Parts: sequence; C-alpha cells; structure tokens
Amino acid sequence: MNLPDIRGVRALHERYAPTPEALDLVLTHCEIVARIAVSLAERAGLEVDAELVEVGALLHDIGVYRVGDGHYIRHGVLGHGILRAEGLPESLCRFASCHTGVGLTRRDVTEQGLPIPVADYLAESAEERLVMYADKFHSKSSPPRFLDGAAYAARVARFGADKVAAFRSLAAEFGEPDLGGLVAEYGHGFEEGAVLLR
Ligand SMILES: [Fe+2]
Repeated sequence: MNLPDIRGVRALHERYAPTPEALDLVLTHCEIVARIAVSLAERAGLEVDAELVEVGALLHDIGVYRVGDGHYIRHGVLGHGILRAEGLPESLCRFASCHTGVGLTRRDVTEQGLPIPVADYLAESAEERLVMYADKFHSKSSPPRFLDGAAYAARVARFGADKVAAFRSLAAEFGEPDLGGLVAEYGHGFEEGAVLLR
C-alpha cells in the first residue's frame, strides 16, 4: 500500500492547517494518538499493520482543519474527503471517517440528527479499531489533556449504555494504555475517572 512517510504526513498537515496554532494542536494530538496506538499494539502483541496504524493515527484528524465554524462532528467525513482528494488509498481515508466516538451508526446519525450523510461510520479492521480506541485517551480540549478509560467511559455514557459497552469491549481487547510517560513528556493535564462504568 502506498502510504505517506512521516515527512509526507507533516506536509499534509501543513497544507490544510489554517493557522500555526491549529497545526500544533492537531498534529500534536495525532502524534500522541499514534504513540498510544503503536504501544498498545506492541504490548498486546497484536498482529496489525504497524505502519498503517501509525500513519492512520497521524492523519485521522486532518479534517478538523476544514471544520471552521461548522459542526465538529463533520471532521471525520471532511478528513476522508481530503485524503481521497490527495489520492490516498481508501484504507487510509477510513481512519478519518471511522474514528468518531466508539463508532457512529446510521441510526446514530438519524436519531441525533447529525449533519453528515446517513451511513455507518464504524471502525472495522483491527487497525481502525485500535486507532479509534487510542484516540479516546487524549482530548484536543483547551488546554489539551489526557484521560483514562474511566474518564472516557463517563463522558460517552450520555450517548447510551451501548456506547459504554462498546468502549468496554475495546478496552478488554486492547488494554488500558500506560499514559504516565506521555503525560510527563507533553505536560498536558490528566483526567482520571472514578470507575469504568458498567
Ligand atoms: Fe482524534
């Protein structure tokens, strides 16, 4: 598969970022997600395409640059469109459209009235699921922060018990990342939840 290398990834971010601040926020987040995903894969001894995991994670939020004043939920489909327009393979474009929450179903789109085409946006391959999962442990909030599984579970609970269950099953499959080193290195805050909701 023809994937961009690290330099190509950076060039893509620089091409689409509207400001240096946006570039720093999104690229840093993508790097953190890539590091979490790769380390989870190594620790669990997963048989995944490590290069696809890394490049997919590094580009999964490229659509954030295009959201502007629009709905943030659109960043996934916008990112998919950017990567496709760049001639990148569908298997890479999918990391952009299929990483939101713990997977958006067609039913989620209609029931929540989301401003994206009605379709399923579900991580399918192990690589896609791993990146979607790793993304849940760092937030581009202002200021950016890390969060543990319990904190994410509490956050996603408002979207329904099925979403908590989906997150728990990802946690059982991939394990909880050890974020201590990244928290120290990046100096972002760390939000710890009380208990992984059932
Ligand atoms: Fe993300």
